[in-house]
Amino acid sequence: STPDSYIINGVTYPKDTYSNIPSSILDKLDRNLHLKPSHPISILRQIVEDHFSSYTPLVPSSAIVSVDQNFDELGFPPDHPGRSLTDSYYLNNEYMLRTHTSAHEVESYRKGLDKWLLSADVYRRDEIDSSHYPIFHQMEGTHIWSNSDLHLLPKLNEELEKKISNYNIAIEDETFISSSNPFQSHHDPIHAEQITKHLKHSLNSLIFRLFGHQANQKGGEPLKVRWIEAYFPFTTPSYEVEVFWQGEWLELLGCGVVMQKTLDQSGVSDKSGWAFGLGLERLSMVLFSIPDIRLFWTSDPRFSSQFKQGQITTFNSYSKYPPCYKDMSFWLPPASTNSSSDQHGASAAGGKISSPTHMKPFHENDYCEIVRDVAGDLIESVTLIDDFTHPKTNRQSKCYRLNYRHMDRNLSNDEVNELQNIVQKRVVGEMGIEMR
Ligand code: PHE
Repeated sequence: STPDSYIINGVTYPKDTYSNIPSSILDKLDRNLHLKPSHPISILRQIVEDHFSSYTPLVPSSAIVSVDQNFDELGFPPDHPGRSLTDSYYLNNEYMLRTHTSAHEVESYRKGLDKWLLSADVYRRDEIDSSHYPIFHQMEGTHIWSNSDLHLLPKLNEELEKKISNYNIAIEDETFISSSNPFQSHHDPIHAEQITKHLKHSLNSLIFRLFGHQANQKGGEPLKVRWIEAYFPFTTPSYEVEVFWQGEWLELLGCGVVMQKTLDQSGVSDKSGWAFGLGLERLSMVLFSIPDIRLFWTSDPRFSSQFKQGQITTFNSYSKYPPCYKDMSFWLPPASTNSSSDQHGASAAGGKISSPTHMKPFHENDYCEIVRDVAGDLIESVTLIDDFTHPKTNRQSKCYRLNYRHMDRNLSNDEVNELQNIVQKRVVGEMGIEMR
């Protein structure tokens, strides 16, 4: 790549005011953790593929998609917060790194496939802590039927219900069809209800496959799963599913009945069905007991040698090297307001697209991006420890604690100071902030 364009796999993408991808991200575009046979991310992918064994597995060829594919085709409104430069990575105003596997729905349905599972790396700008990393992996799964076959669903659902009645599972489902989570108007409500049932049964059974071991042992507590209403621009009704695991509700996936608009654009207007999107990192972290998301990216054999294809085993954490904290206090640029937003999350609320100007309001994701670009995987977390507004001048200051730690060796104070100095210089130069 050059200052004026990104060159990726021989293709040139001219840069413009949207371009915001640092080299630390570009370097990881071809890592494909989900395809390395005995990597935990890949082990989970294979278990899900094995569970849905009649679904066609798909792998898209590139992480670069058009903004159209990632957002417009799926009905994201122009002011959706997920589109903002603080949340997503853009090559330019036309191309971006996909933020979710749903970006491939239209092209996959267009292939004429009715049941498929697509796995891929996805990219989102975010905060820094042990469970957030700007690259993670998702699986998109879907089942659609010709409308003339929908009358088969009650029978299929009965079979699934029979199977689930053998599981030691407690499903909490207080979702209902309402004006905020409606069936689609062109769907016969009886059909839409059957599709929703098939969706719920299929995913409950996947979740039991992944988490049900303890519940299935003699005297085991039932596995608790709960269904929550959600909002996505490309499904309705829409849901999120959580599982109760080690004392906490863990959000696993988003799903819903595919919007007709998606199917129309794929040339399969006469079909209906459901889709889900499952995040693989958080799932791997809890199932394999992996304590830090950066471990997925290490090449240390003490990590990689612990996993075997087809098996969910408990990771033995090798000794952690000591952390090294450095605090950084600074004044925000004058007249700067805070902004932060969540990606595709369930919130339907619109946010503002941050305009690509130089005096952007301070955004924590921009700050974290620079820290990551300088420190790479040596940064473990960035935490706001003080937020202060001067009572007279109204100027706002923040103090962040940067926690550095190497996964495989000790860090020296000198090398951490050097990183901290580079971060300082860059944030002053690029974000218009002033050190205190
Ligand atoms: N793409 C959504 C996300 O990343 C998840 C999703 C997939 C929701 C398919 C509905 C259907 O949050």
